[in-house]
Amino acid sequence: MAIKIAVLSQKGGVGKSTLARCIAVEYASHNWSVKIADMDLKQRTVTAWNAMRMERGFEPSIEVQGFANVKDALKQESNYDLIVFDGAGQADIQTLNIAEASDFIILPTGVSTDDLVPQIKLAHEFIKKGIERKRIGFSLSRVGSSERELSDAKEYIEVAGYRFLGRIDEKTSITQAHDIGKAANETKYSTVNHVVDEVLQGVIDSIESLDNKIEAA
Ligand SMILES: Nc1ncnc2c1ncn2[C@@H]1O[C@H](COP(=O)(O)OP(=O)(O)OP(=O)(O)O)[C@@H](O)[C@H]1O
Ligand SMILES: [Mg+2]
Repeated sequence: MAIKIAVLSQKGGVGKSTLARCIAVEYASHNWSVKIADMDLKQRTVTAWNAMRMERGFEPSIEVQGFANVKDALKQESNYDLIVFDGAGQADIQTLNIAEASDFIILPTGVSTDDLVPQIKLAHEFIKKGIERKRIGFSLSRVGSSERELSDAKEYIEVAGYRFLGRIDEKTSITQAHDIGKAANETKYSTVNHVVDEVLQGVIDSIESLDNKIEAA
């Protein structure tokens, strides 16, 4: 049975597809069989990205498939070690279903209050629906050079009672990587990749600390 990681948000454009891709690459590079469930059938960002990745023969290979609902994606659970749900642009009817079906939920957000507030609200809604707090983690996307902004955003997340996993800095090299079918942890620059690796380690550690979920690989 696959472990299921969901990358979700209330707002669009906060870095879900960026994170979903590098999580998939990270686990696949450790020989897990990974499928990204592209739950955004309008944009199909990750589906298009993976077509480029396959065309260029980049390793590790990832599978990506679009799904209209969680139930269909779960039919493939026994075929993979990991399913990563890349949520739709804005929270929709599927968002709660995906969250409920997942072992771990990541809510990426920008550092601004405009981004943080709706994302914390979404987390609170999940808790109200009975999702355990330990199954939710936050990451910061497109972080600029201000250390103050970063530490304020991290504090905001932690004061709200959620786990902070790490950050991805705003980098042209990340956009360029995406444009050729690579992920944010596969850019030309090891310094950029290293920061992304830290958030991925945060994800791995969180999942390993959940019960009965460490033996799938
Ligand atoms: N760290 C970064 N540095 C530079 N560009 C980034 C970074 N993270 C994301 N981007 C760019 O920002 C845009 C939005 O990111 P992404 O597609 O990951 O967000 P999303 O939450 O999946 O968006 P949507 O809600 O539309 O699905 C993309 O063009 C992406 O390439
Ligand atoms: Mg997306």
